[in-house]
Amino acid sequence: MSETPAAPAHEARLLPGKPVADAVLADVAQRVAKLREGGVQPALATVLVGDDDASAGYIRIKQRQAAELGFVSPHEHLSATATQDDLHRVIDRLNADPAVHALLIQYPPPAHLDYDAALMTVDPDKDVDGMHPLNLGRLSVGLPGPRPCTPAGIEALLAHHEIPVAGREVVILGRGATIGRPLAMMLAQKRPTANAAVTVVHTGVPDWERYTRRAEILVAAAGVPGIIQPEHVRPGATVIGAGVRYEGRRLLPDVAEEVARVAGAVTPRIGGVGPTTVAMLFRNAIEAAEKAAGVSR
Ligand SMILES: NC(=O)c1ccc[n+]([C@@H]2O[C@H](COP(=O)([O-])OP(=O)(O)OC[C@H]3O[C@@H](n4cnc5c(N)ncnc54)[C@H](OP(=O)(O)O)[C@@H]3O)[C@@H](O)[C@H]2O)c1
Repeated sequence: MSETPAAPAHEARLLPGKPVADAVLADVAQRVAKLREGGVQPALATVLVGDDDASAGYIRIKQRQAAELGFVSPHEHLSATATQDDLHRVIDRLNADPAVHALLIQYPPPAHLDYDAALMTVDPDKDVDGMHPLNLGRLSVGLPGPRPCTPAGIEALLAHHEIPVAGREVVILGRGATIGRPLAMMLAQKRPTANAAVTVVHTGVPDWERYTRRAEILVAAAGVPGIIQPEHVRPGATVIGAGVRYEGRRLLPDVAEEVARVAGAVTPRIGGVGPTTVAMLFRNAIEAAEKAAGVSR
């Protein structure tokens, strides 16, 4: 008897972040050019404390990208022994400088410094990460302002790849301040690219798979490598992997590779949400510059 060949394993459609980021950045570049034509030079300042190689590398990448988009990016480098007051003094100076429109403090600072306390001193209108409490407040009541970059990137990614969100069941694993909490607010808002039924699960919900298994869109934002396995996913669902853990240079995503056999669409393990996060940072920066210049859109 001849053996029946095994059916090829289903592989989900991939949802790469690069085309999303490219579209956002093309728009940003045009807006930068327009401001410059009008005599305003958009500026994104960067602040780095200490000598961590990875942090210095991230700053260099963002500065290179800023230059390509037409921003200037004045840079402040404080020594690893800088005090909280030293950091606040630099932030105060950049806040007061009308030529600086947006301000990025590289995370994480050395362990003796309090990043959240520093963030509190950033002018909310220059907060390029959209993480200042005033901006999270603006988000919660639907006022305009810079949006947290990773959640904004996830919403843009879903829209770009034409994954319908409105009216659908979204489950987010993780209620962290960076992703889960702001993303839940954003996707529940009454806007065409949101308007979903959103559930957030976390360690307080030990049987969280009961919720993830019914999600039409599942977002993993836990930072626990491989926490989302095929049995946690509804067949055909869209799965967005946002949580990652770094072990040295190795990036370990929340979503196991095998999930692609069950999901209908999934972000690639590398090059999914990451590029959209960076693109949203520049979108926040150009919006800050436009606001300072009195340009309404
Ligand atoms: N891709 C990107 O561009 C990007 C950008 C920023 C951050 N990230 C990554 O996104 C992840 C989340 O960041 P965050 O700051 O929003 O969150 P976070 O503060 O790291 O919190 C993680 C959340 O996941 C939940 N969680 C952890 N282990 C769990 C488990 N075993 N079962 C159920 N829930 C669990 C936690 O529950 P409790 O609240 O109950 O503790 C918490 O709500 C991190 O891995 C971070 O590296 C990615």
